[in-house]
This record gives sequence, C-alpha cells and structure tokens, in this order.
Amino acid sequence: MTTAERHIPLLDLRAQHAALRDEVVAALLRVVDSQNFILGEEVDKLEQEIAPYCGARFAVGCASGSDALSLALMALGIQPGDEVLTVPFTFFSTAGEISLLGAKPVFVDIDPSTFNMDMNRVEDALRVHPRIRAVIPVHLFGGCADLDPLRNLTTLRSIPIIEDAAQSIGAEYRGARAGSIGAVGCLSFYPTKNLGAYGDGGMLTTNDSALAERLKSLRVHGRTGKYIHQSIGVNSRLDALQAAVLRVKFRRLDSWTARRQQNAALYRELLSAARLPVSAPDPTPYQTRHVFNQFVIRCAQRDQLQTHLREHGIGTEVYYPLSLHQQSCFSSLGYHPGDFPVSEKAAAEALAVPVNPEVSSSDIEYVCESIRSFYALAGNQ
Ligand SMILES: Cc1ncc(COP(=O)(O)O)c(C=O)c1O
Repeated sequence: MTTAERHIPLLDLRAQHAALRDEVVAALLRVVDSQNFILGEEVDKLEQEIAPYCGARFAVGCASGSDALSLALMALGIQPGDEVLTVPFTFFSTAGEISLLGAKPVFVDIDPSTFNMDMNRVEDALRVHPRIRAVIPVHLFGGCADLDPLRNLTTLRSIPIIEDAAQSIGAEYRGARAGSIGAVGCLSFYPTKNLGAYGDGGMLTTNDSALAERLKSLRVHGRTGKYIHQSIGVNSRLDALQAAVLRVKFRRLDSWTARRQQNAALYRELLSAARLPVSAPDPTPYQTRHVFNQFVIRCAQRDQLQTHLREHGIGTEVYYPLSLHQQSCFSSLGYHPGDFPVSEKAAAEALAVPVNPEVSSSDIEYVCESIRSFYALAGNQ
C-alpha cells in the first residue's frame, strides 16, 4: 500500500457514531418528546450509573469538566488569595479555574515517566506555600497520579485533594477508581474523552454526602429550595440531551477501554521490538487500570516526526505544546522558563498517536512502520 492511501485520524468520532446512531437518535427523541431538558430523569439516571462505576457514593452532573473543577473548588471553600497546588503540564482549565476564583495556582513539576505530579516535590511546596488550601493532581492521559504519598502529606494538614479525572474515567490507582480517592473527582464528557458527549458535559464524584449536597446546590445558583439561596453558585447543569447520549455510550465504555488497552499494548510491543529512539508509556505498577485516553510517545525530533506521520495520513496531536507556567496569562504568577524542566521537556517531546477503539491492529502496525521509516530516513537507525 502506498502511503497516500491510508488515513488514520487521531480520533474518529464519526465511525463511533455510525455504530450507535439508531440508539442515540432514539434516546435523543425520548428527551425531545418529554420536553424535560433541565436535569430530570436522564441526568439522575446517569449520575446513578456513573457513581458506582467510579467507586463513589455520589455523582453530580454539571456543564463541563472545567465547571466540575470550579464547582469542586467552590464547594471546598476556596477563597480569593488562597493557593492551590497543581501541575503545569495539563489542560489549561486545571489551573485556569483556580485563577478564575481569585485563588493562585502553585505548580510542582511532573514525573517524567507518568507525566503526572511528582509527589517527591509536594512536601517542599507545602512548606514554602502555607496558604495552599487544596491540591489538584491530574490523572493525565488515562493513568492515575500516585495518590498514596500525596494523601499522607495532605491528610496531616487537612488539605483536600480534588482529582482531575477529566481524562481518566474508569482508571484505577491500586485498585481504586479515579474520582473515589480524593475529596472529590472531576470528570469531563468533552467529545474526545473516553466517554464523550455530543457537546460539553461534566460530572463530580464524591463519597461525602454533605459535599454532594453543596455541589448540587452550587450548580443551580446556590439554591437550597425554590427561590431560596444560602450561597451564590452558578448555572452549570448537565444537559438532559447530553445525559441521554452518554447513557447509550456508557454501556460500551468498558469494551472501548479494553480496545484502547489492547492498542496500547500493541504499540509498546512493536515500538520496543523496533528499538527506536521513542519512548512509549508503560503503566507503573500502581496504575492498575490505565484507560489510555491518549497514547503519548516521546521523542527528541517530535515536530519532524509529526510532519512525517501527517504526510503518511496519520493524525497526531501535541498535548501540550506549552507548560502552563509559560502561558502569558499566568505571567503574574512569577514563574520563569526553566522553573519546571520536566514539564518543559515533555512539552517539547510529547506526541499523541491514534489509540482510540476504532483503530485496528493493522493501523497500529502502519503507524509503527511509519515511525520506523522516519528514523530510517533521518539516518538515526
Ligand atoms: C485534564 C483536564 N482537565 C480539565 C478538562 C476540562 O474539561 P472540559 O473540556 O469538559 O471543560 C479537560 C478537558 O479537556 C482535561 O483534559
């Protein structure tokens, strides 16, 4: 086959939709016919399905993963001037939501092998920043951050953990599901996520009934009864139409995850057999269930490799090209280039290749062969 004949997108949502179309349309029609668009039965049922799936007692739907983060911060009482510890190598909103509430993100660098918070750096950060009132570890790309050492440090100081599990629904840390370990977990149903809506959507998970009640109130303007408000919240409800779609897709989530895991294993096998100067993610022992929202390889000539793969019809993406401490909107935080060298290196080397459930074994063989041909051409083999 010539290179031009093949097209492997990073994510093929149309292929996924084609397999579900009738069920999704029927679910959407059910909501349209009911004319119940705001919260209601579909959202309640989805919450009742997602909570046990995430090993949590309660789940609270909201409008997006970003809103889940800000609702969690609000519910935990984060105030202007407070500091919140997180990582600079993540999607923007992890830190953006902290700043929007008037609090200050404090960054610690990541562990190069997992792309997640380097727990060896947390104790120092907590000592230097006594105003830290919450910690947001991110379970990036579908693999959990190392939460036990973090819990040991934060429990002592009564600092709550907000798990950013936007990319990690169903992932496990030492057998416990993402979103069930910290005070609260935040999920995103953005279409590229393992469980993606047909638009925006998000959910919070918690084992704390009082916190669940606060979250439910905050998502409807802080309402506690009809036109009664004891606090000021926001309008952030999960749309009933989205909930109906998500309930159809949720039934496939485990089989899709299994496909992602098989695809990741095949990548690892082929890339290590080819002995290329590319490192492929290998779950650490505590990541007992990695759900591979992305399969992110690392290599020194990332941008050239991306161009080569594009020329061979292969879709890739750079998650994330800039570490957050280098974003101009965070310049007032006072960080400088070089402050988080592991994150900065990851931003220069990381490349996500297609791992979604629609990708076949032969697609992956072709991607790996194309990576090999890049190094052969570059004379690096
Ligand atoms: C790590 C992380 N946190 C937060 C979010 C925010 O989720 P949403 O796009 O649903 O607002 C995302 C989604 O892109 C994410 O990947």
